[in-house]
Amino acid sequence: MASRHELGEPVVVVEGVEKSFGALKVLKDVALTVRRGETVCIIGPSGSGKSTLLRCINGLVPISKGSIKLAGREVNDKNLDKLSLRRDVGIVFQQYNLFPHKNALQNVMMAPIHVLKQDKAEVEARARKLLAKVGLSDKLSTYPGELSGGQQQRVAIARSLAMNPKVMLFDEVTAALDPETKKEVLVTIQDLAAEGMTCILVTHEMGFAREVADHVYFTDGGLIVEHAAPAELFGNPREERTKAFLDKVL
Ligand SMILES: Nc1ncnc2c1ncn2[C@@H]1O[C@H](COP(=O)(O)OP(=O)(O)OP(=O)(O)O)[C@@H](O)[C@H]1O
Ligand SMILES: [Mg+2]
Repeated sequence: MASRHELGEPVVVVEGVEKSFGALKVLKDVALTVRRGETVCIIGPSGSGKSTLLRCINGLVPISKGSIKLAGREVNDKNLDKLSLRRDVGIVFQQYNLFPHKNALQNVMMAPIHVLKQDKAEVEARARKLLAKVGLSDKLSTYPGELSGGQQQRVAIARSLAMNPKVMLFDEVTAALDPETKKEVLVTIQDLAAEGMTCILVTHEMGFAREVADHVYFTDGGLIVEHAAPAELFGNPREERTKAFLDKVL
């Protein structure tokens, strides 16, 4: 993926970020930069703070120290309009959290209409396009309960894209899916990345990270142990902790 498209200005800049939950220090001096059009993967053992970092980036979790800038604006600035932040950062989780009583099209249309107060006809036209993009044109009026896990996850991705975000965060979105369904979702994300959407992915799919990422960060114990281009990080890791982790998962 690297250099298939030009990278632009920094969209996400994380510097010196610390986060504690009570006495538990979950992030200890984390730094990371993601440029426009870049796909960054975050890998690392369970409990190393990956999900917490994503939640800090979209302002769901306030940081204890440091700075997170999104398109030049400080995420933790009390004066920052939370709505514009929500709009700029799309986040997709392992659990899809679709509205069960709304069909696929309605799920994608909800936030632009009710939160952004956009014109219904325009939102619907866009929602149809987004669902086509994720390969679900034939499921517009289907309810989540009648969709496979992978299809629900793709609706969730379309729903996030409907807000026209500057960056998309994916937190182990394929972890609960069977291998075949997983592939459909990974291909959807790969297409988005190839089109130039800025993406940060927490993933346990090492092959995918290697193929899709422009840059990979390895986290352990709340620290970025090392980061590099995928060929380098997977092929020639510098740190013992990275080697030990990769030996276990590869
Ligand atoms: N709201 C919270 N309150 C207290 N502790 C929390 C909270 N959220 C996360 N933690 C703790 O922070 C640490 C990091 O959690 P986090 O979910 O960020 O890890 P992770 O790297 O995403 O792990 P996994 O790969 O299992 O998803 C864990 O020890 C977790 O128990
Ligand atoms: Mg996690």
